[in-house]
Amino acid sequence: MWWTKNEESGVRDSWCNVKIMHKPVLLEEVLENLLISKSGIYFDATVGTGGHAEAIVSHLDPEGKLICMDRDESLLEIAKKRLDKYKDKVEFGHFCFSQIKDFVLALKIKEISGFLFDLGVCSLHLDDPQRGFSFQSDGPLDMRMDPSQSKTASFVVNNYSLSDLTKILFEFGQERFSKRIAGAIVREREKKQISTTFELRKLVESKVNPRYRIKSLARVFQAIRIEVNDELEELRKGLDQAIQLLAPQGRLCVLGYHSLEHQIVKERMKIKSKETLRMITKKPIVPSAQEIKDNPRARSAKLWVAEKLSS
Ligand SMILES: C[S@@+](CC[C@H](N)C(=O)[O-])C[C@H]1O[C@@H](n2cnc3c(N)ncnc32)[C@H](O)[C@@H]1O
Repeated sequence: MWWTKNEESGVRDSWCNVKIMHKPVLLEEVLENLLISKSGIYFDATVGTGGHAEAIVSHLDPEGKLICMDRDESLLEIAKKRLDKYKDKVEFGHFCFSQIKDFVLALKIKEISGFLFDLGVCSLHLDDPQRGFSFQSDGPLDMRMDPSQSKTASFVVNNYSLSDLTKILFEFGQERFSKRIAGAIVREREKKQISTTFELRKLVESKVNPRYRIKSLARVFQAIRIEVNDELEELRKGLDQAIQLLAPQGRLCVLGYHSLEHQIVKERMKIKSKETLRMITKKPIVPSAQEIKDNPRARSAKLWVAEKLSS
């Protein structure tokens, strides 16, 4: 069955023909830690192009089920095609983390055997200049994971106050030149709207020592992306809802890629481990040197695993 929250948002068919798929990170480790029973009901909260999902569903018994969700409808469409041969066992939904409970309720399911969150953006997001996520290619300043939402990166850059921009760059990008860069943005937009990734890139480059350029660009783009998609609040809400819905002994597996995500996952699991969770990973699992060589985007990944206690 195909669930959608917004029929209007449209699916970009061209993406379904993309040959270079997102490589699932720490795949064996995720399967090993997530799948406690082959007949369980699992939930992939970030299905993307369906790499982890395909591996999960292929390990399930006929009674097992997989619920797949993503806030990007075009990626859901790709995952749906990829998982077509398992369609009797899979549900798809166009939702975001803060709507997990609503989705599970709509499916009339009470408990989930395991949740997977593979955070951040998908390779396809970064590789498509039209989505505006990357400073490596020129495109509109967009950065919405869900193109049906109204707030874009261009809105943030052109409308937020100097102090809000400085705060975002500092808090979400940990960018030490945040004041300087935010100041340059505000001065530039007084002359002309900043509408493309390369316009923003040029501004950042003009304010930062060449030695730090790439790092600053990565931080500034990360910060604006986090703000546009409200990523940290979404993560907090999603984790709390998932923990509530987990069955006793059910597993929560979270793959994070930067320190702000790691911090929230650690903090949430720690708080909940006083009442409802047991940490399985005292230290997070990280990719091997070989995996990083094969898939450089895995280099900053950390996998956290916790188990719901029996009440
Ligand atoms: C790293 S990719 C997942 C890749 C996937 N595991 C695979 O193997 O193809 C992360 C996905 O999570 C989605 N996502 C990020 N934040 C989300 C949120 N708050 N709610 C729902 N989906 C989200 C993104 O749209 C993206 O497709």
